[in-house]
Amino acid sequence: MKIYLIGYMGSGKSTLGQELAKALGISWLDLDDEFELRYKVSIPAFFEKYGEILFRELEHKVLTDISLIPDLVVSTGGGAPCYHDNIKLMNQTGITIYLHALPELLISRIEFSARKRPLFQQMKGEDFFQKITMHMQNRKPFYTQANITIEAKNPDIEDLKKKILDYTSIIS
Ligand code: S3P
Repeated sequence: MKIYLIGYMGSGKSTLGQELAKALGISWLDLDDEFELRYKVSIPAFFEKYGEILFRELEHKVLTDISLIPDLVVSTGGGAPCYHDNIKLMNQTGITIYLHALPELLISRIEFSARKRPLFQQMKGEDFFQKITMHMQNRKPFYTQANITIEAKNPDIEDLKKKILDYTSIIS
């Protein structure tokens, strides 16, 4: 079974991915971590040096390789489903789960997160809120192609497991 978690920055894909993998008894991978391991550079440093276009090309490569590995929970980067037909690739090779969250929750998590988000360097207050709301709106057509959508706030693993099993029994 291959599961992809998608959703905006700060929606909790990495935390939930690890918990879900444990509950399903399969391995977990983080697409951003795999990127950094393969190219031996942090994502903020990569953005700064080479820009987003090249990042998206290489992110697609890493995702394509990961898509070949069976039985895995993959936490993806927030923009991954929105470029290079990645959402199609994920839907063809596994089950996609969208962690939906309201901008208020995401902003508080992004602001307090230790991990650097190169797309939002030094943004604050009303500007930040508007930018995130617009950005999420642009990404919605991709996120909503996921097979299953859940609320990102306090997700329940047992309930999610049930949703996944229900979904697999419908499609098989
Ligand atoms: C990005 C999200 C980040 C990372 C990169 C770009 C985005 O991952 O891939 O900074 O475009 O939303 P997280 O969603 O894990 O923060």
